[in-house]
Amino acid sequence: MLTFKTSEEVLTFLRLKSKHIGLVPTMGALHRGHTSLVNKACNENDYVVVSIYLNPTQFNHASDLENYPLDLERDKKLLKPLSDQIIFYTPEHKEIYPKKIQRNAYDFGTISTHMEGFYRPGHFDGVATVVEALFKKIKPQKAYFGEKDFQQLQIIKVLNIQKKLNVNVIGCPIVREKDGLAMSSRNKLLSPNERKAAPIIYSTLKDLSQKDIKTDVSQMRQFFKEKVEQHLLKVEYFFVAPVCNLIPVSKLDSNIKYRFFVAVFAGKTRLIDTVELVRI
Ligand code: PAF
Repeated sequence: MLTFKTSEEVLTFLRLKSKHIGLVPTMGALHRGHTSLVNKACNENDYVVVSIYLNPTQFNHASDLENYPLDLERDKKLLKPLSDQIIFYTPEHKEIYPKKIQRNAYDFGTISTHMEGFYRPGHFDGVATVVEALFKKIKPQKAYFGEKDFQQLQIIKVLNIQKKLNVNVIGCPIVREKDGLAMSSRNKLLSPNERKAAPIIYSTLKDLSQKDIKTDVSQMRQFFKEKVEQHLLKVEYFFVAPVCNLIPVSKLDSNIKYRFFVAVFAGKTRLIDTVELVRI
């Protein structure tokens, strides 16, 4: 596996090869969710650049950034056996933010207004700033993102069109632990009791997606809160929104494809999840 710190080194190497490049942007603390993206990317490209960059402009609280469980050596070890096609790219701040560490301002319309956009002001501008920089520097043909951050994925698709970045943005299914908890770098921050409690988030969403009360969102929210909050957890939000516009609704229409979107605190750790509503 090759390791580069600057996009110039990455591009010089890749230009010599002039092959198909896939990009998997990450903030490190890699887990099986990430390796599933990397494996897919390796199957679909000649080389796969896995970027590890802890992007300060997408964090809302300094403590969240400080506590992020980054471990580059561990990440390298995890990636190395996967494939020789992988390029481990660990840019420094000046590479991504040559002038000042500051997020750009974007207008993504309603898809960035609700849910994470509302509860984490400026977060998506920070994400878009780093993704735009990575797309422009690495110039991949394809880039891979997990559907756990479903709203982020839709925003990156729009960013790609707005900025004419010409990348094929590919969403990949959520990878879950055996007990249903969505894989996340933040799971490492859970105490043993919080970790034990956390799978109730997914099991309740799955329950809900199969229940008959699926017309009135406030009833569903109440059901979710009652179940989840018995277990050390605190619900920040529960929304149902159509996949096409991500604007939360209070009543469901039978012809539209919806997803549940939730954010839940386990102590200080914030977990998000999303599940498709199968049928009404
Ligand atoms: O999903 C993430 O890990 C980050 O938001 C991303 C896309 C790597 C940008 O920093």
